[in-house]
Amino acid sequence: MSASDENRKFSVDLDGRDHIEVRMDGVTPKVQFRGCTELMELMQGMRKSFGVDLQAWPVPRGASHSEILLRELILKLRGEWKYPYQAAEVCHCRNVPCHTIDQAIVAGAHTTEVVSRQTSASTACGTCRPDVQKMIQYRLQGGLEEASGQRPAERAEPGDWPQKKSA
Ligand code: FES
Repeated sequence: MSASDENRKFSVDLDGRDHIEVRMDGVTPKVQFRGCTELMELMQGMRKSFGVDLQAWPVPRGASHSEILLRELILKLRGEWKYPYQAAEVCHCRNVPCHTIDQAIVAGAHTTEVVSRQTSASTACGTCRPDVQKMIQYRLQGGLEEASGQRPAERAEPGDWPQKKSA
């Protein structure tokens, strides 16, 4: 980490459920995380496989909420996070904030139809539907091409970290 990284904080959340935070307040970044069993197993497995420096971890490619959150955090740490929708509100007909739609996507709403059912976005004029689609696409695929271009050896493929145990 460079000196300019000191006192910087990066975090990702699934509201009320999962949280990962990295603080650059010294030589060694401090990493804290809490949440469901899936997230804990992913974080512990990645740390065991790839060490304590999250910036050097491969970018997870999966669509589970834990992998989506960790992907966001790693891309933020690398300065490669480019979320496509920055306005506070996405759906003006139903007054649905960006954050509400994004959290639904992270939690598993991966089509515009499911996002509409869960948040009521895109259920009137439909003008916001392409933005919702862009948000879904970025959450599921965004940053992976950049990561693959810059660090081909560091992309995580299925099997690179412990998978969720089947019941
Ligand atoms: S802006 Fe979302 S339905 Fe009209």
